[in-house]
Amino acid sequence: MSFKESKVVIVGCGNVGSTTAYTIINQGLAEEVVLIDVNKDKAYAEALDMAHSIYFMNRNINVHEGDYSDCKDADIVIITASAPMPKDSKNRLDMLAPSIKIIKSIVGSVMENGFNGIFVVVSNPVDIMTYMVYKMSGLPKNQIIGSGTTLDSARLCCELAEMYGLDSKSVSAYVCGEHGDSEIVSWHSAVIGGKSVENVMADNPDRTKDITREDLQKKTIQAGWDIFNRKGNTCYGIAASTTAICKSILFNENHIYPVTVGLEGQYGIKSAWLSVPTIIDRTGAKEIVEIRLDPEEEKALKKSAELLESFYGDLGL
Ligand code: 2OP
Repeated sequence: MSFKESKVVIVGCGNVGSTTAYTIINQGLAEEVVLIDVNKDKAYAEALDMAHSIYFMNRNINVHEGDYSDCKDADIVIITASAPMPKDSKNRLDMLAPSIKIIKSIVGSVMENGFNGIFVVVSNPVDIMTYMVYKMSGLPKNQIIGSGTTLDSARLCCELAEMYGLDSKSVSAYVCGEHGDSEIVSWHSAVIGGKSVENVMADNPDRTKDITREDLQKKTIQAGWDIFNRKGNTCYGIAASTTAICKSILFNENHIYPVTVGLEGQYGIKSAWLSVPTIIDRTGAKEIVEIRLDPEEEKALKKSAELLESFYGDLGL
């Protein structure tokens, strides 16, 4: 019986990268976790700190600081490195200019070491960074995934669950499009326990109160900022959502998450990279799922795609 060791490399050991590494270890998802950072001491220290936690974990995992030669036989390379968010910024797109150089150098270093696994891109602005990784890596589309609106969808589900006193996993609602201000909610396909969110809101006035779907969409978009503005970053939600995407790859789960993928006509969008529900298995983005959107939602999704594509010319690709 051949046993293939799974190996995950994480580039960027800031709050997001380190928390993601620790989440993967905590869930015992891979045999080897490698941390890479320009600050090698930081990567070494984070890895050593995590290595000491293995004593208490459910399984032995080899976690260590490494370099780009570790990408050769990696199953997944997660890119979390990004430029710091400009002070008082209110939009992830403000990180675009400084992040372009960082992502270009990372992808070049990964690919020159012969990587042929799956990129999971987290660095913001994630949808444009994911497109860049695709264009620069030369890998097939299915091997490039962005964390996208998986976290936004979880935030919306948590909000609805809190309103109705439920387990958030009993809520299925997809946020699609940009991981940012132009994202949309597919209310058409949002259900709670098999009942449309629309009907749940109407049938439970005492718990819905005067909250509207627009309020919920705004709150979902604002959620990341509510955290960032108080603690200067977000890390647990993005780490858990990135880990869930990696788990579907490593365990060949065929789970459907709204991740950043390259569209080729789906939803009437020819070539933008943005988040739509996608089946994720060991090949990466196995298949894009076309959920039903109402006309307004479809129009807004196309607007989100146009916004993202308007930046492609600035990438120097
Ligand atoms: C967030 O919304 C980091 O963009 C990520 O938390």
